[in-house]
Amino acid sequence: MEIIRTVDVERTYEDKGVPVHAVNGVNLIVEQGEFSVLAGASGSGKTTLLNVIGALDVPTRGEVFLHGEALSQKAGNELSAIRLTKIGFVFQAYNLIPVLSALENVSFPMVLQGVAASERRERAMAILDELDLAGLAHKRPGAMSGGQQQRVAVARAIVTNPALVLADEPTANLDSVTGHKLLDMMLRLNEEKKITFVFASHDEKVIARAKRLVTMRDGQIINDELRDGVFT
Ligand SMILES: Nc1ncnc2c1ncn2[C@@H]1O[C@H](COP(=O)(O)OP(=O)(O)O)[C@@H](O)[C@H]1O
Ligand SMILES: [Mg+2]
Repeated sequence: MEIIRTVDVERTYEDKGVPVHAVNGVNLIVEQGEFSVLAGASGSGKTTLLNVIGALDVPTRGEVFLHGEALSQKAGNELSAIRLTKIGFVFQAYNLIPVLSALENVSFPMVLQGVAASERRERAMAILDELDLAGLAHKRPGAMSGGQQQRVAVARAIVTNPALVLADEPTANLDSVTGHKLLDMMLRLNEEKKITFVFASHDEKVIARAKRLVTMRDGQIINDELRDGVFT
């Protein structure tokens, strides 16, 4: 099943009057169940493309379809609802809320969705448990290691059962062992719960785990290959 389709997507920035084609005519289809990595050198357009796919940014040309629906046709509040319910985000800098515990951070998307407190707590605890993070439930981000924070960020990203999880350089601030552990967890979520992941990363550890590797250069896709034949 198709989750995302970009059609001739372009995102151009103005830099002191000079146009920068951060993404320059990208056609990409993301199917349910993928574990895909957008790779490429720094500045090749990975983050911009991920943000456009996640409705955090708007293309200057072309169209993004989520479950067949054109994002350009959605009003701002509809896009917020889409980001909240259909897409999970994991960022390089974890982006947990510092004054909230792990449990409260994981519960937070459900607060925005209007889920009742008892159910929020139950679902957040269940995810933390499943990811072996229950021991961190009452800790704040400042009392956790980077790897722990990022695993809590993944828990927060998946607690709403999104169609798609987007992860931008999620291992960039982690040491190698911790980065592998995070990827083990994400791969397990992909295989056991069929959660769809799209990464933007130039980290060799992430690239080595990719089931589909999409390589970008100068805002364009220059190579797109399956690593294990799952999607052929
Ligand atoms: N907000 C912005 N304003 C101007 N130029 C930008 C902005 N964001 C990204 N760019 C430019 O777009 C290109 C792609 O950037 P980015 O998507 O961040 O690449 P990557 O994630 O692959 O490093 C780069 O040349 C970058 O400098
Ligand atoms: Mg980037």
